[in-house]
Amino acid sequence: MAQGVALITGASRGVGAEVARRLARRGGVGTVVINHRDERKSWMARAVAAEVEAAGCRADVLRADLTEPDETKAMVSALGSEHGRVDRLVLNASGGLEHGVDDDYPMLINFRAQVRLVDMLLPLMPRGGRIAFVTSHWAHLERYESPVYARVARSKRAGETALRERAPELAERGVTLSVVSGDVIADSIIAHMLDRLNPGWIRARLDRVGALPDTRAFAESIAEATDPVRSAAPGEVHTVYVGSTDM
Ligand SMILES: NC(=O)c1ccc[n+]([C@@H]2O[C@H](COP(=O)([O-])OP(=O)(O)OC[C@H]3O[C@@H](n4cnc5c(N)ncnc54)[C@H](OP(=O)(O)O)[C@@H]3O)[C@@H](O)[C@H]2O)c1
Repeated sequence: MAQGVALITGASRGVGAEVARRLARRGGVGTVVINHRDERKSWMARAVAAEVEAAGCRADVLRADLTEPDETKAMVSALGSEHGRVDRLVLNASGGLEHGVDDDYPMLINFRAQVRLVDMLLPLMPRGGRIAFVTSHWAHLERYESPVYARVARSKRAGETALRERAPELAERGVTLSVVSGDVIADSIIAHMLDRLNPGWIRARLDRVGALPDTRAFAESIAEATDPVRSAAPGEVHTVYVGSTDM
């Protein structure tokens, strides 16, 4: 069995869960670690772990709210003691559209938590390590016109920019960064939530671009982005687009 360890944040459901399944099936890693936040939904994370194991990989579930420094530290410490390394890190967990969150929450989860996790994990990442930051076209391409999504998009772009600025330091450690940006994912909960808050939004997007990617296509591109790279220039950030970028 392969020896590498992959950590996927926000992998109890949605895109992150599908990335976990795909990494297990593709066979390049020996252990898939599933992070998520909400204790009441740990059963979902455990169900994903069971699928990972059925695909022939070891699985672990490490619950931590990544906006909480102490919880993040405890997760990293458990990773160190139980697995000793993290070869692939998928920064997938995101937030800001949840009901009742404070105004500063998008920045906490999509910017500060991402940078903090990378800082804490770097000592566990060997040379050849891969980080994939998951984002949306609205964030990556800085299209902030949606009143519902603008704050989240800005915070995700702030997280991406901060990580890109770290690329030279990552390169010195032999770690490479990819950014995987997606159009709205047709079968996702967030797409339905945005459409409810902004009626007709999905229809208008479909009329414009013809077809939208689904969770499987997005997850496959994210999983691929964590594959070992043979010829990336030092410090180069590979950007992958999934779905139309016609905005
Ligand atoms: N959906 C789309 O249309 C779309 C389009 C482009 C890009 N993306 C990007 O794809 C990624 C995944 O989106 P998704 O639609 O799959 O999201 P989702 O269904 O809302 O799932 C979010 C996941 O993140 C976890 N999470 C949320 N807050 C967290 C925190 N503070 N700490 C740790 N984990 C946390 C959740 O855990 P719990 O269940 O335990 O709360 C859950 O596992 C995001 O980066 C998003 O921006 C999505």
